[in-house]
Amino acid sequence: HNKKKLLQGGSVARAILESKKFGVRALIRDETRPSVQVLRDLGAEVVKGDLNDKASVEAVLKGTYGAFLVTNFWDNFSKEKEVFQGKLVADAAKSLGLKHVVYSGLENVRRLTGGKLEVPHFDGKGEVEEYFWSIGVPMTSVRVAAYFENFLGPWKPVKASDGDYYTLALPMGDVPMHGISVADVGVAVSCIFNSPEEFVGKAVGLSSEALTIQQYADVLSKSMGKEVRDTKITPEVYEKLGVPAVKEVANMCRFYQMKPDRDIKLTHRLNPKVKSFSQFVSENQAALKEN
Ligand SMILES: NC(=O)c1ccc[n+]([C@@H]2O[C@H](COP(=O)([O-])OP(=O)(O)OC[C@H]3O[C@@H](n4cnc5c(N)ncnc54)[C@H](OP(=O)(O)O)[C@@H]3O)[C@@H](O)[C@H]2O)c1
Repeated sequence: HNKKKLLQGGSVARAILESKKFGVRALIRDETRPSVQVLRDLGAEVVKGDLNDKASVEAVLKGTYGAFLVTNFWDNFSKEKEVFQGKLVADAAKSLGLKHVVYSGLENVRRLTGGKLEVPHFDGKGEVEEYFWSIGVPMTSVRVAAYFENFLGPWKPVKASDGDYYTLALPMGDVPMHGISVADVGVAVSCIFNSPEEFVGKAVGLSSEALTIQQYADVLSKSMGKEVRDTKITPEVYEKLGVPAVKEVANMCRFYQMKPDRDIKLTHRLNPKVKSFSQFVSENQAALKEN
């Protein structure tokens, strides 16, 4: 809800409008949000509605060529609600005969691991992906890597209590973690809309690069002028930290350690200007210094 920072939906709206190949009609639920005016200023038509409401979803999709869908797990912390919204859009896309849907999906980890690992904010999106394809909607899933923006928010380095250094705690072991700035997702999605013959029916893992937690720490350290250390936390210890969504993040990292497909080369083809983590950090110095 930051005035200038649009997240996935806004990044896609901006890139599509800038490409001038399609117009954009955005579904919004609250006209008082500052981001709504940003969308209008970019040239989007905004229509009030709700992703939980069939009539408003149909109204916004009627007459469109295609749709980009992102659902927000963190809005309700509910896989069921996310699946409900995704299926509702899939059914509407089917009945209205949309030509191409790009859905911000992720893997159904629960199914892939035979029930051994559950990551509800992934699993629901995986169910929705399967549903879109099973009912025959021409759909491309973009599986977006962890946002670099997380390092300015929930994953911002924390000042150590026993010295003049900072710590970064993400249970990735020594496995590199894929990342991308959410602002760079839009151009990739816009490019996918322009090449349906290549991408319909596929899942595309979007990632700018993959770095170990110590490598992320090193980039942050350079920019902050303070040492940042990877705490080498294990998923088991991480789960016991008293911060929100620990179980979700621990299980997400357990899944990331299984190295799901994220295609760095393709992402750079879809968005040649996709930022590396160092570029991202140098462009966001101020946000990193804020406390
Ligand atoms: N953070 C990461 O590293 C990461 C990586 C990959 C995937 N994801 C996924 O990205 C999703 C969130 O995307 P985002 O953070 O980039 O946000 P976003 O695209 O800006 O999406 C959130 C927007 O959706 C709107 N919205 C939410 N529920 C709605 C409803 N029922 N009807 C109409 N509009 C609704 C919100 O409206 P209001 O402004 O009214 O609240 C908000 O503007 C999550 O599901 C997450 O799992 C995140």
